[in-house]
Amino acid sequence: MRWGVAAGGAIGVALVPLVVLSAPTVVTAQTAEMEQGKRLYESQCGSCHGPLGNGGRGANLAQPRLRRASDDQALFNIIRRGIPGTEMPGSPLTPRQVSSIAAYVKTLGRVEPEDIPGDGRRGEAVFAALDCARCHTLGGRGGIVGPGLDDIGARRSAAHLREALLDPEASVPSGFLQLRVVTKDGRALTGFRVNEDAFSIQFRDLSGRLHSFWKYELDVLEQQWQRSPMGSYAARLTSEQTDDLVAYLVSLKGAQ
Ligand code: HEC
Ligand code: HEC
Repeated sequence: MRWGVAAGGAIGVALVPLVVLSAPTVVTAQTAEMEQGKRLYESQCGSCHGPLGNGGRGANLAQPRLRRASDDQALFNIIRRGIPGTEMPGSPLTPRQVSSIAAYVKTLGRVEPEDIPGDGRRGEAVFAALDCARCHTLGGRGGIVGPGLDDIGARRSAAHLREALLDPEASVPSGFLQLRVVTKDGRALTGFRVNEDAFSIQFRDLSGRLHSFWKYELDVLEQQWQRSPMGSYAARLTSEQTDDLVAYLVSLKGAQ
């Protein structure tokens, strides 16, 4: 729904050349493009990437170098087509609108980097002590109940990561669907969906075992959107440990 709402608005007004020359009028044109880019950014992107680009559900865009959008063309393509297999959607905007957003996104990179309190090295020890790897893979080791964390710091903002620890059900990644099933012979299982079609469903239980059922074998198939088996760590972490753990997660940027 978010898409296409603002797209129709005040656009058509500023048909702005991208390559600008140094004539005085161009300055206004450039400003108009930037304003359009800012408006579009706020309506189409801000909800995920944050009003200032610091990220949220989406990656932090307020940095000088973007991991996947390393040059102008890549940035344009990402905004146009999205990143398949992730929550980053493609958009129905015109190429010109996409260019204006791209120009605006580039200005976000000039802001000061986010100041993250906490000590990543101490956070690594907290991660080990709480056995987060029981459910999450990192560096090729660990469980598969939760999402892999190798590049979580590149995909999510500090604010989102903090929320994932303290209030996991407020920030469940789309695509993660918890299920409760009860089979006709009375077995009850909780897990998350791996695959589903009209007749069958495959899911992983919380120990990581894969199950496959025909739907007619099930008495109950309950979809628990926004539910998470990862309990809140609010009561188990001091605020200092939370800061340290967030700093550690932010440092996990994957292969650069
Ligand atoms: C529904 C949430 C959502 C919306 C809306 C959204 N994004 Fe994203 N975006 C993401 C996520 C999540 C990622 C990280 C994908 C990954 O790498 O796993 C991302 C990644 C990106 C990247 C790559 C960042 C990098 O580090 O290379 C750019 C650039 C980007 N988005 C720009 C935009 C722009 C501009 C808009 C608006 C036109 C937008 N996004 C709208 C969720 C969103
Ligand atoms: C019982 C299994 C389990 C344990 C233990 C666990 N997690 Fe999770 N975690 C999950 C699942 C499942 C999800 C996906 C659903 C959600 O967001 O809550 C998740 C989500 C996350 C996310 C958000 C990922 C994203 O893409 O937004 C982060 C970050 C995270 N966990 C970190 C941790 C850390 C750090 C610990 C240890 C303090 C931990 N988890 C312990 C199962 C677990």
